[in-house]
Amino acid sequence: MPQRIRMSLRLKPEVRNFTVPLVPATEEVLLPMAEALLDAYAGTVDDEHETLEEALEELRRVFRGFYGTFLPQASHLILEDNRVLSGVLTCLYRSEPTITNTFTRKSAQRLGYATHLVMKAADVLAQEGFHSLYLFVSVENRQAIALYESLGFEKVPLTTVTEIHVD
Ligand SMILES: CC(C)(COP(=O)(O)OP(=O)(O)OC[C@H]1O[C@@H](n2cnc3c(N)ncnc32)[C@H](O)[C@@H]1OP(=O)(O)O)[C@@H](O)C(=O)NCCC(=O)NCCS
Repeated sequence: MPQRIRMSLRLKPEVRNFTVPLVPATEEVLLPMAEALLDAYAGTVDDEHETLEEALEELRRVFRGFYGTFLPQASHLILEDNRVLSGVLTCLYRSEPTITNTFTRKSAQRLGYATHLVMKAADVLAQEGFHSLYLFVSVENRQAIALYESLGFEKVPLTTVTEIHVD
C-alpha cells in the first residue's frame, strides 16, 4: 500500500453559497456511489482494481462506522439523473472529523465538484464547533494533494503529538 500522509484544514465559521445542488449521501444510493468510486479511481496511483462488490463493501464499512461514526451532515453527493458524479464522505475518526472518501467521475473532473463537497463539509463542521478537518492521502496522489492544497489543507507533521498513538 502506498505511503499516506495526514492533512488538516483549520475550520473557519463561514457559510458559503453553493452553485451546484448537493444532496446528502445515504445508503440508498450505495450502488451508484460505488460505480462512481470505481470510475474515479480507475488508472490512478490508488487504483486497487476493486470489483463493484468490493467497492460496495468498502462504502458499507464507512456508513456502518468501521472508520468511526459516519457524519451524514458532512457527507454529500452531486448527482446527474440517477448517476453519482462526485462525493465526499466524512467520519469521526479518533474523535476528529476525517474525510474518508473523495471521488469525482472522470467525465466530471476539474469542474469544482470535489471543492464544493469538501467546503460544504468544512462549513457544516465549523458551525458545529469543530476546529479542524482531517484526511489521509497517498503521497503519490498528486491530483488529490493539489486539490486539498488548493483548499488550504496542510500536511500534518508526523512528529505532532496527535500522530503518536499509545494503545
Ligand atoms: C482528486 C479528485 C477527487 C478531484 O476531484 P475534482 O472534482 O476534479 O476536483 P476539483 O474540480 O474541485 O479541483 C479543484 C482543484 O484541485 C486541483 N486538481 C484537481 N484535479 C487535479 C489534477 N488532475 N491535476 C492537478 N490539479 C488538480 C486543481 O487545483 C483544481 O483547480 P483547477 O481545476 O481550477 O485547476 C478526483 O481527481 C478523483 O476522484 N480522483 C480519484 C480518487 C482520489 O484520488 N480521491 C482522493 C483520495 S484522498
